[in-house]
Amino acid sequence: MSQHQNEVASPSLPAQLLHHVSRRRQRFYGVIAFALILLAAATFIYGGFATGLDLTSYVPRPKAPLPPANPGADAGAVDAAPGANGANSKNAPATTTHTDSGAKSGPTTTTQDSGAKVGDDSQQPTDAPDFQVQPGIPPKIWQIMLPKTDDKSKEDFIADPKILSETPSWLAMNPDYQYTLVGHRGGEEFVRKHFGHNPRILEAYTHMPNVGMKSDLLRYLLLSAEGGVYTDTDTVALRPIDEWVPEQFRGKAAVVVGIEFDRRDGPAWVDISHWVQFCQWTIAASPGHPVFDKMVDRVLYSLDQLALEHGVPFTELKKLDSFEVMNSTGPAAWTDVVWAQLQEFDNSLTDIKNLSYMEEPRLYGDVVVLPIDGFGMGQPHSESTDDGTIPPDALVKHLFNGSWRGDKKKRKIQPSQ
Ligand SMILES: *[C@@H]1O[C@H](CO)[C@@H](O)[C@H](O)[C@H]1NC(C)=O
Ligand SMILES: *[C@@H]1O[C@H](CO)[C@@H](O)[C@H](O)[C@H]1NC(C)=O
Ligand SMILES: *[C@@H]1O[C@H](CO)[C@@H](O)[C@H](O)[C@H]1NC(C)=O
Repeated sequence: MSQHQNEVASPSLPAQLLHHVSRRRQRFYGVIAFALILLAAATFIYGGFATGLDLTSYVPRPKAPLPPANPGADAGAVDAAPGANGANSKNAPATTTHTDSGAKSGPTTTTQDSGAKVGDDSQQPTDAPDFQVQPGIPPKIWQIMLPKTDDKSKEDFIADPKILSETPSWLAMNPDYQYTLVGHRGGEEFVRKHFGHNPRILEAYTHMPNVGMKSDLLRYLLLSAEGGVYTDTDTVALRPIDEWVPEQFRGKAAVVVGIEFDRRDGPAWVDISHWVQFCQWTIAASPGHPVFDKMVDRVLYSLDQLALEHGVPFTELKKLDSFEVMNSTGPAAWTDVVWAQLQEFDNSLTDIKNLSYMEEPRLYGDVVVLPIDGFGMGQPHSESTDDGTIPPDALVKHLFNGSWRGDKKKRKIQPSQ
């Protein structure tokens, strides 16, 4: 019987076994799938909490930049959304990636990561603006040194070390900050990596009519993508960056701007179209602030306007006067954009004269505005302290060497008489 059974059963045994095995396998796969779903859910929930609780990580920028157009070119690069990396990687030497990848990109000193951020005392902003930019200035310092000429030798351009004679003040005042001198190659790579998805930005950067305008655009792009402090090479650090945001604004400030010119009761000045003008020789910012998106839009718009006025494609714009430069990429354009941003935050600001005669730093939304001596001491106007002393509220001194300007003209402002 058993023999018979075996005989009968034996042909079907493999099938039964298979059936049995495949059901076991199904159950096995089911368990695995369930475990994976649990794991994914846990990761998602944990990730959500982690982002919500970890005050040292940046909130991703509202309009996350698209991935670089040519990701292969930048092996090991941090992703295009530096804000999204969280605490552990936020200060990863992203900057060394794009400067080091070109062998000749210049001296990049990467100092230790202090992890500290200016103006971030781990408090959430109480009067948070309607977009989320993590307050605080990441510990990065940027300077730009681009070759003046358009000739082939620009690839090998090396600056006269004297031009960087003020840079040690920045290093000494700000230990553990990451310092990057962005050169020709590093600048191109950076723009390609972070803004390569936007052909207009790439084209504008590549074909800027002169090196000053190129440097202007690059600083906005650097601060937009990476944050930190941009400062011209002819500036001297007078106070540590950690002290720039007044204590009462810490944890609320995402951008620091300074006044360069305040007409007050004085005469009009050459090339100054605003009663109060902001400087862009030094700017501090948290990455992803919309004021830089707006500024980049303004630059692109102005280039189109200039092309129309000159009757040539913008790539063929050559001789621009100094006001055209200032009003397309420079301080006049920057002032329009910053002022519009401040008005967005505070609709009682109706006239830029509202910022005239400022004596103390003010906070509008998440933007700190410094009075004239903050970034603009030592100038013979605007009631800037210009008696050879350094006032206590002076953070930066601008020497107006105009070293990186394509033309000989300095950007220093002059009375119109
Ligand atoms: C910049 O200007 C200052 C003051 O005019 C001068 O002392 C300094 O040597 C200049 N630096 C360079 C690199 O030209
Ligand atoms: C500055 O540029 C803007 C934008 O291109 C333009 O609307 C404005 O008229 C210019 N300002 C002056 C004083 O020309
Ligand atoms: C700005 O100036 C206008 C005109 O003088 C004034 O009415 C307004 O109150 C000022 N706003 C602020 C915030 O000071």
